[in-house]
Amino acid sequence: MNGIPVGILGTGKYAPERRLTNQDLERMVDTNDEWIVSRTGIRERRIAAEHEATSDLAYEASVRALAAAGITADQLDLIIVATITPDMFFPSTACILQDRLGAKKAAAFDLSAACSGFIYGLANASGFIALGTYKYALVIGADTLSRITDYTDRNTCVLFGDGAGAVVIGAVPEGRGFQSFELGADGSGGEHLRLPGGGSRVPSSERSVAERQHFMQMNGREVFKFAARIMGNAADEALRKAGVSKEEIDLLIPHQANIRIIQSSLERLNLPPEKCVINVDKYGNMSAASIPLALAEAVEEGRVKDGDRIVLVGFGGGLTWGASVLVW
Ligand code: UT7
Repeated sequence: MNGIPVGILGTGKYAPERRLTNQDLERMVDTNDEWIVSRTGIRERRIAAEHEATSDLAYEASVRALAAAGITADQLDLIIVATITPDMFFPSTACILQDRLGAKKAAAFDLSAACSGFIYGLANASGFIALGTYKYALVIGADTLSRITDYTDRNTCVLFGDGAGAVVIGAVPEGRGFQSFELGADGSGGEHLRLPGGGSRVPSSERSVAERQHFMQMNGREVFKFAARIMGNAADEALRKAGVSKEEIDLLIPHQANIRIIQSSLERLNLPPEKCVINVDKYGNMSAASIPLALAEAVEEGRVKDGDRIVLVGFGGGLTWGASVLVW
């Protein structure tokens, strides 16, 4: 990549305390633990408390990332919150967070690219730093999917959970940091994963509520087919741009939607499971939060070592995808 080398200076994560287990879901819809575990790999998810919104989850992860990076909020130049569940339409969740953190000089905006949002956010923020426009940026993936999940729909409600992951990015030594980004979108598949109500097309009304249009709707099979194909393609392309071979990968951090999708990525990249961060069993799919939370967890567990070559890869609504190769 051109310009000043940019990398991750600190990571942080936050998951709400409340757990929703497969056994809990068995009491809510016609499902069972065996089906959920064998088809998705998920055993439990975290659910935000009533008083918690996305900016609260983002705040907790951000405070930890700032401490890990050894900088204070007033040093931040930019805050990007990747989310599809903002506190409200506007002000943006990034502005709410900017105020709460006291990041007075930071520009702030939200980014909507569903589960690929964190990688889109990293690519955006790194561009500013690589050009020398900004010194420090905070990039957060945060989602409170429980608020847009239809807990009467067994096709979707077993999949999703709440959480946040944050990173501080800034200049790093030559040869370290982000080596490539691969971003993409195919809007023709947008209908397969969406929340139709509450926007300018279908404004909120008694009818939109009665028709359950304020909940996520998903064609699981179509999204699955797309994901299985695109995860490998996006990772391959990011590796090619970075000039890194599959054999040189030390750690894969994929979007945590479904263990079967993760396994197909591992096969495609010819990697053993030890080289992959997998926590979908504990958290389910947290959309934009999945990748940064998995990264922060891997850092906490000492799984990320100096000089490691890491591949981040995700897919999601839009449809969108994103991948990045970075040297730690
Ligand atoms: O971040 C992106 C977000 N979305 C995704 O990543 C979703 C990607 N898709 C998937 O992960 C999978 O397609 C699912 C996990 C959603 C579904 O797995 P599948 O193996 O594709 O199952 P299916 O949709 O083919 O359904 C198989 C059967 C159906 O019954 P019939 O029609 O064969 O009688 C479903 O009605 O399983 C049934 N089923 C369930 N049974 C028990 C669907 N959901 C459930 C459930 N419990 N929760």
